[in-house]
Amino acid sequence: MSSFTSLLFSCAAIAAFLILLRRWRYRRLRLPPGSLGLPFIGETLQLISAYKSDNPEPFMDRRLNRYGLVFTTHVFGEPTVFSAEPEMNRFVLANEGKLFECSYPGSISNLLGKHSLLLMKGNLHKKMHSLTMSFANSSIIKDHLLVDVDRLIRLNLDSWSDRVLLMEEAKKEEHDQIRSKSKTGAPLEWSDYKSMIFTQCVVNETLRMANIIGGIFRRATTDININGYTIPKGWKVFASFRAVHLNPNHFKDARSFNPWRWQNNSEATIPVNVYTPFGGGPRLCPGYELARVVLSVFLHRFITIFSWVPAEEDRLVFFPTTRTQKRYPIIVKRREESSPCI
Ligand SMILES: *[C@@H]1O[C@H](CO)[C@@H](O)[C@H](O)[C@H]1NC(C)=O
Ligand SMILES: *[C@@H]1O[C@H](CO)[C@@H](O)[C@H](O)[C@H]1NC(C)=O
Ligand SMILES: *[C@@H]1O[C@H](CO)[C@@H](O)[C@H](O)[C@H]1NC(C)=O
Repeated sequence: MSSFTSLLFSCAAIAAFLILLRRWRYRRLRLPPGSLGLPFIGETLQLISAYKSDNPEPFMDRRLNRYGLVFTTHVFGEPTVFSAEPEMNRFVLANEGKLFECSYPGSISNLLGKHSLLLMKGNLHKKMHSLTMSFANSSIIKDHLLVDVDRLIRLNLDSWSDRVLLMEEAKKEEHDQIRSKSKTGAPLEWSDYKSMIFTQCVVNETLRMANIIGGIFRRATTDININGYTIPKGWKVFASFRAVHLNPNHFKDARSFNPWRWQNNSEATIPVNVYTPFGGGPRLCPGYELARVVLSVFLHRFITIFSWVPAEEDRLVFFPTTRTQKRYPIIVKRREESSPCI
C-alpha cells in the first residue's frame, strides 16, 4: 500500500470512529427528536429558503407536527435544539449566563456589529444592560424622551418606509381626537400617548406576528436535562418566540393579523412566557418601552398628516431578520385638513 492510500485509509477510519462515537454519545443522552440532516450543512438550506419567503412557517410546522414542540435540527454548521415551548423558552432566557450563553451565527453577529449589546457577555453586559435600562425607563421617557421622539419624528417623516405595517384608516378617529385636544402641531403629551389604545393594539399585534427578531440563539454551557431530554454541552438552542406567537393554542386564529384581538384587554390573560416580543431574563430588551413609544408616536403623526397607498407590491421576508423586501415604498399625500407640523 502506498503511504498515500494508507493515510487516506486511516483518515476514513478515524472519521468513521468519530461519527460512531458521536452517535453513541447522542443515543445515550436522549436528545429531543428530530433530524440532523446532511453532514455539515444539515438543514440550513431548507431553513434559509423558508425564511427568505413570505411564508416561513412550513419549515417549522412540518417539524413541530412530526416531533412536537422541541426538536433537534442542524443549522449554521451546528446541531441545534429548536424550541417552540413557552416554558422551555422562559427557562433558556432565565438561565442566561448560568446554563446558557448568548451565541449568534457568524452572519448575524456581523450584522449586529461587534459593539452590540447582544454580543456582550458577563459583567460588561450586566453593566451596559442596566445602564441602558436606566436611560430608557418609563419615567425618563415620560418626562424627557417623548418630546424628543415626537420632534424627531415630525422632522424626519421621510424615514418611515420600512416601519409601518398595516395601520387601518379605520382608527384615524382615535388620532384625530387626540390631535384636536391639543393645539394643532403642539407636542404630544404622555396622556396622549396613553390614550392611543388602538395604536397599542396594532403595535402589539405587529410585534406578535412580524417582530424583527423571531427568536434567540443560545449555547448550552453544560449538559442540560429538561422535559426528559438532554441538551448536550456546546449545543445551540434556538428559542423561537415566533413559533409560540403563531401557535393557535395560544392565540386564536394565530396566523392572521388582527389588532382587535388585543382590545378590551382580551389578551391580558396570556401567560407572560407566551408573548415575549422583547425576550426576557437578564437580556430583556432594554428599549422595550421606548420602542413602543416611538412606534406609536410615529403612527400617530403619520396617520394624522398623510394618507397613503402602496407604490408597488412588497412582501415580508424573515431572514436574517424580519423586513420588507423592497422597504415598502408608498405614495403619500398630505391630508388637506392637516396642519403644518414640521
Ligand atoms: C429611571 O432611571 C433613573 C436614573 O436614570 C432613576 O433615577 C429613576 O428612579 C428610574 N425610574 C424608574 C421608575 O425606574
Ligand atoms: C371589545 O368590546 C366591544 C364593546 O363592548 C365589542 O364590540 C368588541 O367586540 C370587543 N372586542 C373583543 C376583541 O372582544
Ligand atoms: C400589549 O402587550 C403588553 C405585554 O407585552 C401588555 O402588557 C399590554 O396590555 C398589551 N396592550 C394592549 C393594548 O393589549
